[in-house]
Amino acid sequence: MFEPVKIAPSILSADFMNLARDIERIDQGGAGFIHVDVMDGHFVNNLTMGVPVVKQLKGVTEVPLDVHLMIDNPQKQLAWYLDAGADWVTVHAEVLTEAELRDVINQIHAAGAKAGVSVKPSTSLEVLKPVIDMVDMVLVMSVEPGFSGQSYIEGSDERVAEVVAMAREHGVSPLIEVDGGMNEKTVALVCAQGADVIVCGNAVCGAPDPALALQTIERIANDAQPKEQ
Ligand code: DX5
Ligand code: ZN
Repeated sequence: MFEPVKIAPSILSADFMNLARDIERIDQGGAGFIHVDVMDGHFVNNLTMGVPVVKQLKGVTEVPLDVHLMIDNPQKQLAWYLDAGADWVTVHAEVLTEAELRDVINQIHAAGAKAGVSVKPSTSLEVLKPVIDMVDMVLVMSVEPGFSGQSYIEGSDERVAEVVAMAREHGVSPLIEVDGGMNEKTVALVCAQGADVIVCGNAVCGAPDPALALQTIERIANDAQPKEQ
């Protein structure tokens, strides 16, 4: 049987002037992770938040911090995020050689954190093969990284199915996270294919009642999950 699906609200869609309030709301809603979208203005055009935010979040919530590094040269900044208290750190396969990716994963593990690897919608899933047995999570982007509030790219559910099949072939079962355009409709598509963790920006943090939105999406996700492995 699959583990229950967890929801990872992205604070990129939170009200930054009321961030503590928004964190409390998603905590109360039962968030499985708090997703922190770090963008550097290079790997993606947008620039968002960084180490100080991770550090302060760590002080106000018990929910594991799922830090999504949309940055070039993540190996140069990794230690800062680990020191700041990131529980999960995900890097993009597009910015690292295979050897660098292995080093980064080992460094994350050496710090006692969990390691994820992410692929953009147009990146070949082949890049995952050399590390699928090393990572704790594969993050399948279902929009081009850069902004919240974009529409789900059709066919991302098929990519989730391919990652599930690849993990099975290798005899491993990393969490499979989907990020971008997730809502009450699209979540069912990817969870039906075996997604375990769903990032929700606008659909949760942008909702009038974030806790209710989170719980509704979580229920739909779990209903859609395959019941047999
Ligand atoms: C996109 C980010 C996402 C984004 C999700 O580059 O990685 O985490 O904030 O936002 P929604 O759910 O609104 O697409
Ligand atoms: Zn993200």
